[in-house]
Amino acid sequence: MKILAYMVQPYEEEAFKKWHEENGIEVDILKQELLTAETVEKAKGYDGITTQQVIPVKDEAIFKKLEEFGIKQISSRTAGVDMFDGELAKAHNVAITNVPGYSPNAIAELAVSHASQLLRNVKKVNKAMETGDYSWNHELLGREIRNCTVGIVGTGRIGLTAAKIYQGYGAKLIGYDKFRSDAAAEILEYKDTLEDLLKEADIVSLHLPLFEDTYHLINKDNIKFMKEGAILVNTGRGALVNIDDVIEGLESGKIFGAGIDVLEMETAYVNQKIDLEKIKGTAAEKLTKMDNVVFTPHYAFFTDEAISNIVSTALDNVKTQVETGNLVNATNM
Ligand code: NAI
Repeated sequence: MKILAYMVQPYEEEAFKKWHEENGIEVDILKQELLTAETVEKAKGYDGITTQQVIPVKDEAIFKKLEEFGIKQISSRTAGVDMFDGELAKAHNVAITNVPGYSPNAIAELAVSHASQLLRNVKKVNKAMETGDYSWNHELLGREIRNCTVGIVGTGRIGLTAAKIYQGYGAKLIGYDKFRSDAAAEILEYKDTLEDLLKEADIVSLHLPLFEDTYHLINKDNIKFMKEGAILVNTGRGALVNIDDVIEGLESGKIFGAGIDVLEMETAYVNQKIDLEKIKGTAAEKLTKMDNVVFTPHYAFFTDEAISNIVSTALDNVKTQVETGNLVNATNM
């Protein structure tokens, strides 16, 4: 068996080497090449491929070629697969497989860290220090997590992990989810509506997938229900919030602070070195500059544990299908 890996990043190479050594299967690596209608030619002669890219894979020519080469799967080294046209792939008998859960702790820990930095005004303190002001300014008086009510919106793998971390701090936990889980119900009190949660939570932490019914779930119509001094954390997907409405809330003081890891427009900058002109006037530029915002570039998943799990699961997905004909983690069939 031979596997071709597209767009392998330097931080993934060690994990690829480890999997190869453990499984004795040849994996050839393309370091800078995305899967496109041109580069798909390189997959000829391989049994399976894996890629990790935010650039769309929606050109029918790609799926046609894979079918011709007898490759039955694109194994994506991501959880989300919105960059693929799953229906088109299916029409050519190409499965899109993913890595559904690689380390909920990675994302949950960053979400909690963003909230705690906001409660303790870390960015404001650092900015004051840059001007020589090291004083215990009244405006910088922090708050403790144990005195907060934390609202977990989406109590799945990541939301529940975040809830458990907050539980350790002694926070009061409430939650909202369309499909309640028994495990979450053991540690948090479910609210019947998002509005009920927003009215009570000091920290609102979003851990939902992006669907039609979660698009711009947080917007000016419900931001108005948030408590004075509340913090909003989004490590889910950018489009879960109307970011212009959130920025308005931050500027007016309605929202005390925001921890933002994902933005609707993030393909313009994620995992790239960009000319700052490219984001001039955008939400990304504004959030970077605001001292009541902790902003990271879709960075929550990025830990050694998560990368190792992503690479090994994606390669296992290929191995299982090639060896047994069975698909694991298929998203489109
Ligand atoms: P999960 O599937 O375990 O949990 C999602 C939860 O959301 C489920 O409990 C589900 O019932 C709930 N839900 C779905 N639709 C809903 C709705 N309309 N209203 C209320 N609740 C709803 O997913 P997991 O693993 O916890 O991941 C959550 C999200 O985190 C992912 O979908 C992804 O968008 C994001 N993510 C972000 C990463 C980052 O680096 N920032 C990395 C990995 C995931």
